[in-house]
Amino acid sequence: MQIPQRVQLIDVGPRDGLQNEKSPVPAAVKIELVHRLQAAGLTEIEVTSFVSPKWVPQMADNAEVMAGIQRQAGVRYSVLTPNQIGFEAALKSRPDEIVVFGAASEAFSRKNINCSIAESMERFAPVVQAALAAGIAVRGAMSCAVGCPYEGDVSPASVSYLAGLMKQIGVQRVDMADTIGVGTPLKVQKAIEATLKHFAPAQICGHFHDTYGQALANTLAALDMGVWNFQSSVAGLGGCPYAKGATGNVATEDVVYMLHGMGINTGIDLDKLVDAGKFISDFLGRPSGSRVATAILSKRAG
Ligand code: HMG
Ligand code: MG
Repeated sequence: MQIPQRVQLIDVGPRDGLQNEKSPVPAAVKIELVHRLQAAGLTEIEVTSFVSPKWVPQMADNAEVMAGIQRQAGVRYSVLTPNQIGFEAALKSRPDEIVVFGAASEAFSRKNINCSIAESMERFAPVVQAALAAGIAVRGAMSCAVGCPYEGDVSPASVSYLAGLMKQIGVQRVDMADTIGVGTPLKVQKAIEATLKHFAPAQICGHFHDTYGQALANTLAALDMGVWNFQSSVAGLGGCPYAKGATGNVATEDVVYMLHGMGINTGIDLDKLVDAGKFISDFLGRPSGSRVATAILSKRAG
């Protein structure tokens, strides 16, 4: 197995993690979570989305959250922007990176962003161009790269097709997302292989939801293919509101523990990360979704 010396983690907890919470989470709590993540050494944080508040009410405080963050040098703050309206609103918050989000399955594209894959590209293209012209980096999320809640298995050909479209419109790097966590290592490798037709390993981020408990194994399978950027969510928070039954991303604590155990550097202080996860889990009033955090907290208590 090829093992990189370093892995870059993007914590998507404040966005993917909290977007699905039923009760409102105050902006101050989201801001505090971002502060704790950066204090733990995260250098990329997906903060919020500029989407319709009718579709995702939890992200309605996007501008307030972005304005409240005390930015730390060397940290990249990203936000989701599905269209021109979202991008224009996001611009005022000066994100370092915007994320356009499409899907490898037609049905999911329609449920999530209310348009076909082809239409989504027409919407994204001017957003991508405007962002690049403004010196803002651009990432493209590819949902349902392994399976879809509406269509079932998704073929590598569909992933390659979407990755090719993302490349054509100028997206700089892509998230290979297993939205509903159904992937297993060989399927994930096939989806990565399909993405590699258009993007270099350094331009691919693994985004694995852990619904079926496969995310760490999938992370390892992706690492073995030279992928070294991953998204994860502190305390394993989250799920997509338009992917019923899907749980959160793999917990950042679990990924960090695995990587550090393999001698791979992440720049993250696991103890401080566990504290960040405890902060948000305490606020939400439920135990952390991270096995590692649970183990470390019970060891501390003992
Ligand atoms: P639409 O209804 O088709 O939009 O929604 P529209 O252009 O027809 O506009 C309708 C109304 O929405 C108008 O307002 C617009 O101004 C407003 P009205 O005239 O009726 O008062 N509007 C907006 N407001 C705020 N921000 C905007 C915006 N755009 C239009 N950006 C839209 C299309 C994409 C906006 C909608 O479908 C939407 O907001 N979807 C949200 C999807 C979402 O956030 N999903 C979760 C994130 S993706 C995810 O979790 C997956 C990921 O983690 C990877 C993985 O795991 O797969 C990334
Ligand atoms: Mg997701």
